[in-house]
Amino acid sequence: MSENIIQFEIKDKKAYLEINRPKALNALNKNVLAEIKKYCEILKNNKSVHVLIVSGSGDKSFVAGADIKELQELHNKNREGENFSKWGAEIFNSLEQLPQITIARVQGYALGGGLELALACDFIIASENARFSLPEVTLGLIPGFSGTQRLRKRIGTARAIEWIATAERYSASEAYTFGLINHVVKHEDLHAFTEQIADKIIKNSPLAVKAAKHVIRSGENCNFQEACDIESHHFGNLLNQTESIEGISAFIEKRPAQF
Ligand code: CAA
Repeated sequence: MSENIIQFEIKDKKAYLEINRPKALNALNKNVLAEIKKYCEILKNNKSVHVLIVSGSGDKSFVAGADIKELQELHNKNREGENFSKWGAEIFNSLEQLPQITIARVQGYALGGGLELALACDFIIASENARFSLPEVTLGLIPGFSGTQRLRKRIGTARAIEWIATAERYSASEAYTFGLINHVVKHEDLHAFTEQIADKIIKNSPLAVKAAKHVIRSGENCNFQEACDIESHHFGNLLNQTESIEGISAFIEKRPAQF
């Protein structure tokens, strides 16, 4: 990996995107956001990568939010603040819509835009030392990278309003209880555990995993029947693919499937 504000690497069907500004607790400045956008563009059309792991460098912080020093430059600049928010939200939407399964591997602070980044991933795996908060109201702001909506969808309206209005900071075990994160593990096990989950995903049929994510995500934007129709369409489509022929044959022949 090169020494850069983003370290990006592809290895064994997995991609690793690490935000690398540890002195600023990996805060998201415009350059970092532009780099995330660039790598989302690269991954969008990459069929050999099946899992993306997003992380922050150092033990202290995943990402401590949007870069507050850059936010200060947006004071009284008419619509520049709104445009900045829309730009960040679009980047996080493109992360959410990637065909790969995306995992936020969180240690330390996941605050503000950092939590919004983690929420734009498919799920979060956290170290015991992780701390989660949307503290924007302490700055006279609200979350600006779709965090109001993704937090609401993840933990419900009542909790999202309490979290955002109080700016309270939550431990990993509290975040787990609220359903914000999928797993809490010992800090020293975070990397290995995340790899285990990623490896389980990459051994399955890539087309089926990709279709599963697409169908589940599609269901967030349509009614139940429409979502079930999308599911049936993809189920049928998968039955016409060589991967399901291999998967079903392997089961019947009592051997591991080779995808
Ligand atoms: N932006 C810019 N710089 C930041 C930063 C941020 N979000 N968070 C931390 N830093 C910088 C600090 O300025 C400091 O830099 P200097 O050494 O140059 O002064 C360095 O990182 C270390 O930070 P601290 O000295 O503050 O470390 P600490 O251990 O005392 O505190 C912390 C850690 C509790 C995370 C604290 O840094 C903090 O509260 N950070 C801000 C968190 C925050 O409010 N995030 C929301 C940002 S707004 C947002 O994200 C808007 C949006 O939704 C789009």
